Amino acid sequence: MSKPIYITTAIDYANGLPHLGHAYEKVLADVIARSRRMAGKAVYFLTGLDEHGQKVQQTAAAQGLEPQALCDTMAEAFQTLCKRLTISHDDFIRTTQERHKAVVRAVTQRLFDAGLIYKAEYQGFYSPRAEQFLQEKDRVDGQWPEIFGEVVEVCEVNYFLKISLYQDWLIDYIQAHPDCIFPQFRAKQVLEFLKEPIKDLCISRPKSRLSWGIPLPFDEDFVSYVWLDALINYISAIAYGEADFSRSEFLRLWPADIQVIGKDILIPAHAVYWTILLKMLDLPLPKCILVHGWWLAKGDKMSKSKGNVVDPLRLLDAFPSDAFRYFLMREMQVGQDSNFSHDLLLARYHSELGNDLGNLLSRLLHMLHAYTGGVVPAANQLEAIDTQLRDTWEGLVPKVLDAYQAFDFSGALEEIFGFLKELNRYTEQKAPWKLAKSEESGVVEALHSTLASMAEGLRLSAVLLSPVMPGVADTIQMLLGLAPATQFEGALAWSRILEGKRVGEKTILFPRVEK
Ligand code: MSP
Repeated sequence: MSKPIYITTAIDYANGLPHLGHAYEKVLADVIARSRRMAGKAVYFLTGLDEHGQKVQQTAAAQGLEPQALCDTMAEAFQTLCKRLTISHDDFIRTTQERHKAVVRAVTQRLFDAGLIYKAEYQGFYSPRAEQFLQEKDRVDGQWPEIFGEVVEVCEVNYFLKISLYQDWLIDYIQAHPDCIFPQFRAKQVLEFLKEPIKDLCISRPKSRLSWGIPLPFDEDFVSYVWLDALINYISAIAYGEADFSRSEFLRLWPADIQVIGKDILIPAHAVYWTILLKMLDLPLPKCILVHGWWLAKGDKMSKSKGNVVDPLRLLDAFPSDAFRYFLMREMQVGQDSNFSHDLLLARYHSELGNDLGNLLSRLLHMLHAYTGGVVPAANQLEAIDTQLRDTWEGLVPKVLDAYQAFDFSGALEEIFGFLKELNRYTEQKAPWKLAKSEESGVVEALHSTLASMAEGLRLSAVLLSPVMPGVADTIQMLLGLAPATQFEGALAWSRILEGKRVGEKTILFPRVEK
């Protein structure tokens, strides 16, 4: 059997509640996972929570909590979010779990034994917000960019990982594997960054300053730098280095196929630290790091520190989960930034989902009950307009499948909703409600063919929409009397599969939402 497709997301910081950016990343990875499963592939999908580090320690202290208690609350909040977004992950890793800590210790020990870690004094600038040591070149126009928050000067003894030894290798690797970062312009940015010499990575924090971390196995006075700890989740979750290695999930799943992250954590965390760490461990690199953009609020990054975040759980109280998923995938081109606005969400909800899809389905169900006893009739009288509809569908399928494969989910949805608009025009033109009243001979056949084509068009659209709107897709198929398709193959051809099927009651998929 071929290797399952291993998909990961970034693991979110446990220092605050989930926001729209977190929800987006999980939905994006989930749509990839579901589209690959629908394409007949086995998938293993990991997400999780990043629980150590200064930010978590500080937030817990400010709330008068033990860090672990804060993490437990946050883990529940993020897992609730996943559930409400119908994320189909196979595992949720928490970096405070023993299975993770053991791998972090084993990996650091191995690097230490290989002579890749040394102790030295560091003097310079440090950003507690980014939990990162800074260099002069990180300044913009002489100032520290806002993302670093308050920057302090520190002088400390610490442990360093010799990443600078691998700079040339990394440049060569990225040049030789142009597909390893998506979209490709991000790979160019990494190469640009690598034009300057990189410094060895400080991988420890003295326990005296930060106790909430994983102690280094070779010096318990220090804990692991949170980024080193966090990055290792991608291999600890699948039991890298397990005692009985031959049985480990790791051998079955590594290398990761698609690692979904936001643009703020590509350079240096994933493109430099992560890739070099894997190289040091002699492990193959992920096949693709998929870098998405940011959701902005009026042009500004949404972030906890700015207080302009959109709470996804509140949106999920107002809108069906699939509608929210649809909006996130339709509105943002993967890799670009996008502005979030409630008005836009409401507009797409009512016009595309409510009208083009929801109304069409409820009209069809209503007519099937009124005219054909709740059973899908046969399409025996096809006119030019019917064959045209079918041709449009057949031209659409490969385009949408290609778009799914190329992470162009917005384009895929645009195509599918273009078809639904055509199906609405078809319905208006054929006007089955008029045919039902007409007493001319042969009209019954035309009525039946129209209703059958509408039903088939909706069934097919539902199957193709299922990675993005899994619940809606299942509901539509069940209302049309079918068990939901679990694969695209065999389910996307225009057929007569619905003929004779008893349909469900008229259903409103997307109830109106007031502003
Ligand atoms: N804990 C680190 C990641 C460690 S991965 C080994 C972290 N956490 S985070 O909570 O700050 O961000 C988690 C993910 O959410 C990142 O991929 C980040 O890019 C994404 N988003 C955070 N804010 C975002 C937006 N406003 N818009 C879209 N996604 C953004 O970084």
